Amino acid sequence: MPAPEIALTERFQSAFASAFGPEYADADPIIRPSQFADFQCNAAMGLAKRLGKKPRDIATEILAAVDLEDIAETPEIAGPGFLNIRLRTDWIAAQAEELAADSRLGVPSPATPDTVVVDYSAPNVAKEMHVGHLRTTVVGDSIVRTLEKLGHTVVRQNHIGDWGTPFGMLIEHLLDVGEDSDEAKLLETDPNAFYQAANAKFTGADGTKDNEFADRARRRVPILQSGDPETLAIWTRLVELSKQYFHRVYDMLDVTLTDDDLAGESSHNDQLEIVCKILEADGLARISDGALCVFPAGFIGRDEQPLPLIIRKTGGGYGYATTDLAAIRHRIDDLGADRIAYVIGTAQELQMNMVFQTAREAGWLTDAVEATHVKIGSVLGDDGKILRTRSGSSLRLIPLLEEAVGTARTVIDEMRPDLPEAEREQIAHDIGIGGVKYADLSTAHDSDYTFDLDRMLALTGNTAPYLQYAVARIRSISRKAAAQGIVAAGAPQIENDAERALALQLLDFGPTLTVVGAEYEPHRLCAYLFSLAQAFTSFYEASPILKESDEQVRAGRLALAQLTERVLVEGLDALGVNAPQQM
Ligand code: ARG
Repeated sequence: MPAPEIALTERFQSAFASAFGPEYADADPIIRPSQFADFQCNAAMGLAKRLGKKPRDIATEILAAVDLEDIAETPEIAGPGFLNIRLRTDWIAAQAEELAADSRLGVPSPATPDTVVVDYSAPNVAKEMHVGHLRTTVVGDSIVRTLEKLGHTVVRQNHIGDWGTPFGMLIEHLLDVGEDSDEAKLLETDPNAFYQAANAKFTGADGTKDNEFADRARRRVPILQSGDPETLAIWTRLVELSKQYFHRVYDMLDVTLTDDDLAGESSHNDQLEIVCKILEADGLARISDGALCVFPAGFIGRDEQPLPLIIRKTGGGYGYATTDLAAIRHRIDDLGADRIAYVIGTAQELQMNMVFQTAREAGWLTDAVEATHVKIGSVLGDDGKILRTRSGSSLRLIPLLEEAVGTARTVIDEMRPDLPEAEREQIAHDIGIGGVKYADLSTAHDSDYTFDLDRMLALTGNTAPYLQYAVARIRSISRKAAAQGIVAAGAPQIENDAERALALQLLDFGPTLTVVGAEYEPHRLCAYLFSLAQAFTSFYEASPILKESDEQVRAGRLALAQLTERVLVEGLDALGVNAPQQM
């Protein structure tokens, strides 16, 4: 179902074709929201240039040719040739009625769904997830939820760090402490503590004199890489324990990732040598300073020399780039990706671009597949630097989230002492977690933002609690209406300006979600939901529901409120934010 812009575009384009010739059929009518009407068409100026006429004359010609009868009142020409368009209220009402009857809320189904591989979250085994992972997780999850709502096929890929040299030390430490020991359990609860204990032994920082542990750890690396079954078994245990930790975080965050989505670095091991061989055979890779390197076109270092992407280190080990190259082949050839989105920190931009370029030169990544680095900015502290604890170590995620829920709990205990304990607990979770996630999502993903719990949990402004409160308010109205025997009408009431404005916002949901899924920009959905909630507030001030005496108007306004609730809840769900029943 088309939003007004889409309907207007169609009408104007057929007017262009009939007035100026078929070659004008796809000229952009430049429909924009207007201060003076609902929309304006700004096409006359550009067309005037193309046709060598005066903009105002073009506007007059467009006006004569365009058929908007059923959609809008006769447009007015303003200024140099703007066409101001006021939609017919009955047209908006009919659109709103269609929207209310549509289970997809105006979200169009794609003609041919894309298979979209989304690489997100990607924490590291035996390491604490930090706020950087919070962002790749939350933004990625919102992207997959959105794409699924749009009807695309989504393959989640959690590219966890589960391989590499530190695993020698981690395996030896796990063997030392015992798989079922309390120390091993730290992997589930406080992975950094486990890592640091292993690392202290490795570096001798714990006071151990001999290097026996470090030697064992170093020797363990090639044994692991050669696929020794006993070593693999203990490695598997290490990964298992870490998975428990990841899932605690994902559960707490209401993130949709499961074990089935794990596609760690290790899963590409058997392809690394093959990747190197092919690139070498194709003449794309060569030995430079002992390492096997690719020099993808267009990347020049500070020394004006081509920049190398190392795919096999001097000692024979493989790095991150090789794994990403193997992964890109797997995603295209085996998973059938039409699009691949990499939700990864901005710091890795150069690496990502070099990997993409190498894959293009190798013919693995073709124009048929769109690969995008969804760049993730940093989370900053009050001091404008990357958020860390006072001692300078990176912040632990679970305590941070617990603090958010705890703060929300204090607020809800004060606001709603009447609610049962279990419900208050659930609401505190929804507000605390929703608040943190929303703050993350409402900032453009590639900008930095300052972690500020008070602002995240505020009931005013562009926050989750503001939107959650709007939903709770509508639900409360619905409960009261039901108690008074008021039944919502099938058709929302669209008459006064506030009702019109709210309906126009509602009609924009489908197109907004489409853009968010195409551009991977959840912050646009946040901005949309925020203006929708504001439009609802204005509507509710201008158009009382329960106090309205006209039965039909009352039922129509209730229908409009309930449609708003559905769109808000659906939009929040695309962000991965829950909407409590009451607040
Ligand atoms: N594990 C890495 C980190 O914590 C991120 C991996 C990103 N994903 C990828 N396909 N390279 O920094």
